[in-house]
Amino acid sequence: MSEFVPFPAAPERPLAGRVVVLTGAHGGLGAEAAVACARAGATLVLVGRKVPKLNRVYDAVKAAGPEPALYPMDLAGADPADFEALADTVGRELGGLHGLLHGAADFAGLTPLENTPPEQFARQMQVNLTARWFLTQACLPLLRRTEDAAVVFVVDAPERVGGAYWGAYGLAQQANHALVRMLHEETAASCVRVAALQPGPMRTALRARAFVDEAALRVPPAAAYAAACVHLLSPAGAAQRGTIHVPTPAPGPDGFPGPGR
Ligand SMILES: NC(=O)c1ccc[n+]([C@@H]2O[C@H](COP(=O)([O-])OP(=O)(O)OC[C@H]3O[C@@H](n4cnc5c(N)ncnc54)[C@H](OP(=O)(O)O)[C@@H]3O)[C@@H](O)[C@H]2O)c1
Repeated sequence: MSEFVPFPAAPERPLAGRVVVLTGAHGGLGAEAAVACARAGATLVLVGRKVPKLNRVYDAVKAAGPEPALYPMDLAGADPADFEALADTVGRELGGLHGLLHGAADFAGLTPLENTPPEQFARQMQVNLTARWFLTQACLPLLRRTEDAAVVFVVDAPERVGGAYWGAYGLAQQANHALVRMLHEETAASCVRVAALQPGPMRTALRARAFVDEAALRVPPAAAYAAACVHLLSPAGAAQRGTIHVPTPAPGPDGFPGPGR
């Protein structure tokens, strides 16, 4: 199912008129994806747990494109009714939904399973897997009402995070890969496209928790993958339907030598 695809050239506003819900909106990749999606014309629902950080992303997004909506939410404590309330609000206030980008992730650092506090294990499975599915399930009826809708799961490389010390984050990543495959098969005949975006290593808070001593400039910034998020959410993303999209990072102004570990 994995495929290596060169970075695609996108039309100018491929998300014009589309409504997209984005989780992890004030994260490293989330904030960059939000601005890129707004620039591409999307109206965004920015989901994140810290309001001051969400407000900063709101300002950047508003300067780049349509005014976004903020939806403060802690995914760790959310239940199915909370996700249904989100979907109802989006349908009522914004008139529809065309895309879902799952960018939130909880990773506390490399820890042996035996030493992982049970509450941390449970929280990471909830944020990194269960909440993603509950949100998707709640949004599917709304997504089905459009002609073309995309559900994009941002995933990590299973071979990198499937070994010792990656804990519940690593386990949830394996499950995310299976979820994409399973849901794609179940929605293949519908207007809802399912795909995964598997970025390479990115210079974010999450990465720094695993590779604390890494020379930051060896690793591309999250901005290098923002256009790939736009691509998968746009009609052109139909080419990657049902796949794990592994794009080449777009070169940035600060330069970086390669994809890292
Ligand atoms: N960085 C990499 O090298 C790399 C490589 C491959 C794949 N990925 C994937 O890329 C995606 C984005 O990661 P990133 O590197 O941008 O990490 P990041 O900067 O840490 O962003 C993750 C976001 O998720 C949010 N989050 C965590 N727990 C939450 C909760 N309980 N409720 C709501 N939001 C919560 C974080 O909020 P707070 O700021 O409040 O913690 C943060 O905004 C993830 O799916 C990750 O698995 C990353």
